[in-house]
Amino acid sequence: PSTARRGADGALEIGGRSVGEILADAPTPVFVLDEADLRGRAATWAAAMAEEFWPGYDMNGGEAYYAGKAFLTTRVARTVLSEGLGIDTASAGELAVGVAALAAVDGEAATAHATRLGLHGNGKTRAEIRTALAHRVGHLVLDSAEEIDLAAAAVRELRESGTFGPEETGSVMLRLTTGIHAGGHEFISTAHEDQKFGISVATGAALDAARAVVTAPELTLHGLHSHIGSQIFDLAGFREAVGVVLRLRHQIAEATGVLCQEVDLGGGYGIAYTGADPVAPSPAEVARALAEAVRSLCAELGDAVPHVSVEPGRSIAGPAMVTLYTVTGLKRVELGEGAARLYVSVDGGMSDNIRPALYDAAYTALVANRRPDPASGLVRARVVGKHCESGDVVVRDVDLPADLAVGDVLAVPATGAYGRSMASNYNLFTRPGVAWVEAGRQGWVLRPETIADLLALEGD
Ligand code: LLP
Repeated sequence: PSTARRGADGALEIGGRSVGEILADAPTPVFVLDEADLRGRAATWAAAMAEEFWPGYDMNGGEAYYAGKAFLTTRVARTVLSEGLGIDTASAGELAVGVAALAAVDGEAATAHATRLGLHGNGKTRAEIRTALAHRVGHLVLDSAEEIDLAAAAVRELRESGTFGPEETGSVMLRLTTGIHAGGHEFISTAHEDQKFGISVATGAALDAARAVVTAPELTLHGLHSHIGSQIFDLAGFREAVGVVLRLRHQIAEATGVLCQEVDLGGGYGIAYTGADPVAPSPAEVARALAEAVRSLCAELGDAVPHVSVEPGRSIAGPAMVTLYTVTGLKRVELGEGAARLYVSVDGGMSDNIRPALYDAAYTALVANRRPDPASGLVRARVVGKHCESGDVVVRDVDLPADLAVGDVLAVPATGAYGRSMASNYNLFTRPGVAWVEAGRQGWVLRPETIADLLALEGD
């Protein structure tokens, strides 16, 4: 995070608080959110989209929706809304958090016209779709032909109940499968043909779906959506996606007379987890590349420029948090020919960060409670958790100071996205808290779970 530095005593400091101060109020393992950093990243995305898509003579406005799946609480949602972002949600739970935060930031009345919220996901239920429609979310992104029928049925219900006027339509977008293969790992690459998301452009299903929406008296086709994958550094895939989406938009207009107002190009902008990762493109670079692609293709097609949105998650929340762990054990394993590996056990593991086990994701770690003695040298280390699985790895390969001792605190950077949000209770671990720090102050974004919380869920 941007406020992280070594204090005079050599201990790590975040948000003006030393690790010792942070841990006095928050036991390890704990996620620490640098609020100023989060706010800054949100503001940077908002500014980049506003500037590059400024609705002047050749652009039609643009904005960023924070992808709440990366990490969402009402506090986080309030922060990003206050910085001018919308929020993209992927479930009834995320949507409820988005609605609560919108009420806090923009007032209760805004929740009936929640243009700054979106709802995504394949396999949405009729109830989820109806809730999103009742809030008139700006981006209700339908993922299949079945969801088009569910949305039409939900609008009929809302008209009957009086929530909608008798002629009012539900504004929807369609999630396209663009055929583009991009992303850091097969599990997070989402737009090639052979996977579950979206409606295929190549087979003609997307054009059929657009016809179905346009002809449904209950629905309005607001826009098209593409998300090609996650942890992507190369902007070429996004440019390619712009081409597929805008060409389909043109085709839909020819076939139905409706030129979609908005194009949502999804998230997926990569971040550096370790020094070996490439440098991520800045929001301004992303926005400029997208704007240029949109501008030139619309000119070529002779189409009016759409409103353009993006949905960054990882690049906003990821670098804003670190996880602090306490070292609980050290074991040296000889690898032969003089080589050795130090297994460093910590008091967390795959229940607070599943990404190494799930995606083979690389992280790094540093000693956080003191300045390591440079004279002690480095050892090849593997940081491991306390779950009963050998795949329970926190950091697969990292050089740590040879004077590392039990009781030292390790910081693992860039755990803000898909860390706490994918945490589990495996082995009946309680999920760690998330502490916010800023300008020397500290509080809880999420308090740590307790064993009583776990027992409270049990039936007879
Ligand atoms: N929009 C849609 C429709 C998405 O499916 C996603 C992520 C995003 C936006 C945000 O993508 P981001 O900017 O955060 O890359 N659990 C995985 C990542 C799964 C991402 C799923 N969709 C991980 O830990 O790497």
